[in-house]
Amino acid sequence: MKELRKAVFPLAGHGTRFLPMTKASPKEMLPLVDKPVVQYTVEEAVASGVSQIIMVTGRGKRAIEDHFDISYELEDVLREKGKMTLLEDVRRISFMAEIVYTRQKESLGLGHAVLCARNLVGNEPFAVALADEVIDGKEPALAQLLDVAREFDAPVIGIQEVSTSDVSHYGIVRGHEIREGLFRVDSLVEKPRVSEAPSRWAVIGRYILTPDIFAILENQSPGVGGEIQLTDALVTLASHRPLYAVKIEGKRYDTGDKAGFLRATVRFGLKNPELGPEFRKFLSDILAHPESE
Ligand code: UTP
Repeated sequence: MKELRKAVFPLAGHGTRFLPMTKASPKEMLPLVDKPVVQYTVEEAVASGVSQIIMVTGRGKRAIEDHFDISYELEDVLREKGKMTLLEDVRRISFMAEIVYTRQKESLGLGHAVLCARNLVGNEPFAVALADEVIDGKEPALAQLLDVAREFDAPVIGIQEVSTSDVSHYGIVRGHEIREGLFRVDSLVEKPRVSEAPSRWAVIGRYILTPDIFAILENQSPGVGGEIQLTDALVTLASHRPLYAVKIEGKRYDTGDKAGFLRATVRFGLKNPELGPEFRKFLSDILAHPESE
């Protein structure tokens, strides 16, 4: 597999699970302590060796562009006040990677959002990362996929095992395990009923793909929810060439879901060196005396 330089971030969904918050603001700009969710995933991509990020945005997502842009006024204020550490933090965000933007004009599905990046990706392998899935592990999640993509010179999807009751929320893998945590994919089922799920291995928003996926997506008819599903295109891809699925090591938080977002907030709050000790005490006080809250 050629060097991986580009990652596509599909950001044009409606975020209905997080309404009304998502009515006018992107869920990817929700903060986990002091950084927006999308910054965690950008940092993961950069740490995995990606140098260009293609953000597929839609209406109401302008705050994402502003976050990764230079803010002259803010930088001047910080400089004048001598807040040099904050100034460094703010400037670093603007230079982490080359970020380019395109718009998905209608939310026709994740597969369609990826197709919108076709011309910007060109004829080379690329990653796809769903920014609201924050993965906190020792090795960046995309780098874990990349190891397998290089070993087999093939596209790879990231998976984790979910509980039986959760299979209906995910794309689920049908495949055979060729070594621990690594599967050759035969097929995928999008959001199956519990009784129809071929396994509990769920696709969790990280992919390394080859550009032949675009021709498949172009001819893909709408699937579950009337949307053009990336999962359906991957089923076709798997029938043309070997497709692998690898278990991603790390804690995963679906921050596009209210409960997942709260879990992530608590975890990252506890891990924060400045806030962690006090926050831990606060939480244990609440748990010890819930009636006093
Ligand atoms: P989700 O299934 O999480 O949908 O999309 P959503 O609209 O963001 O959120 P809910 O389920 O309504 O609460 C998975 C990813 O695909 C992107 C989303 O932004 C998210 O990153 N997506 C989805 C698009 O970019 N365009 C689409 O048409 C649909």
